Amino acid sequence: MSEISPIRWKGSHLELLDQRLLPQQEVWIALHTVQEVADAITDMVVRGAPAIGVTAAYGVVLSARHQQQHDAGSWRTGFDADMQMLAQARPTAVNLGWAISHMQQLVEQGADLDALEAAAIRVHEEDVAACKAMGDYGASLIHEKTSIITHCNAGALATAGYGTALGVIRSVNRDGHLLMSYADETRPWLQGARLTAWELAQDNVPVTLISDSAASYLMKNRQIGWVVVGSDRIAANGDVANKIGTYQLAITARHHGVKFMVAAPTTTIDMQAATGDDIPIEERSQDEVLSVFGNRIAADVPAWNPAFDVTPASLVDVIVTEKGVIESPDREKIAAHMRQGE
Ligand code: MRU
Repeated sequence: MSEISPIRWKGSHLELLDQRLLPQQEVWIALHTVQEVADAITDMVVRGAPAIGVTAAYGVVLSARHQQQHDAGSWRTGFDADMQMLAQARPTAVNLGWAISHMQQLVEQGADLDALEAAAIRVHEEDVAACKAMGDYGASLIHEKTSIITHCNAGALATAGYGTALGVIRSVNRDGHLLMSYADETRPWLQGARLTAWELAQDNVPVTLISDSAASYLMKNRQIGWVVVGSDRIAANGDVANKIGTYQLAITARHHGVKFMVAAPTTTIDMQAATGDDIPIEERSQDEVLSVFGNRIAADVPAWNPAFDVTPASLVDVIVTEKGVIESPDREKIAAHMRQGE
């Protein structure tokens, strides 16, 4: 069971494990203002859709506290401006907007500062519980020993703990069904090489690192049963936005008869996005492609650096959420799934 968690609420402030420095250094950063929280999300001190959502919920608490101390009478003006600023921190992961609107609704209903803090802690705790449920639903689909490829980091470091895709891999390993997990290195930010490999090794889950371009050859030559990934936003028709490179992995999985699973909490499903075309795709600095850790590796040319891509629902065999399993997802199945337990 993973004890790794990248977010610590200290009552007066928030602490984040700086994911830009892993695995070489484990440094925690203290954040006291909502501006520092937004900057930490933009700069990828914290990353991964659910972890961004949990972090934002604490950012809302820091803003409400500061604005009420500053101007008890008309604190909402400053608070609303803070919320707009926080919502701009990164565009693709819908969990950011979800957490902000969830907390804003409580403010509308008259929640005081203690109630807001309790709500943020609940968002944090519920994310761990959701990951564990997803892990078990995903593992229940895998009955024989097999190997799994994963992309980016959808682990404890990308959530409040345990992970979405890596939660499934942890549960498969616990059940004795994991031959090997293969982590794509995930150029250009190297979430796979730096974070996924590190956290699975910490938990003694068998893991082998591959370059992104080795995935098709691996599927052809080794016993790969599944690709399991997380998501930053799932559209109402089942199209899945995730780290750049996920789409080509889904295409090659279908070609080789390898199953493709997406593990994501229902807070990642955006019923306002009709299809993947409605999902904003973040484009990050070309320097991330042209250089590695500040050292220029490329010739003197420009680079294009979309951080995410969209895998069409037709290439997704199954989505697992904390509520259960959606096989061959489509608009009707997703709508029914979202209504479940309401
Ligand atoms: O740019 P990042 O590192 O925030 O991208 C993260 C991903 O794409 C993850 O796969 C996704 O957020 C799911 S995390 C459980």
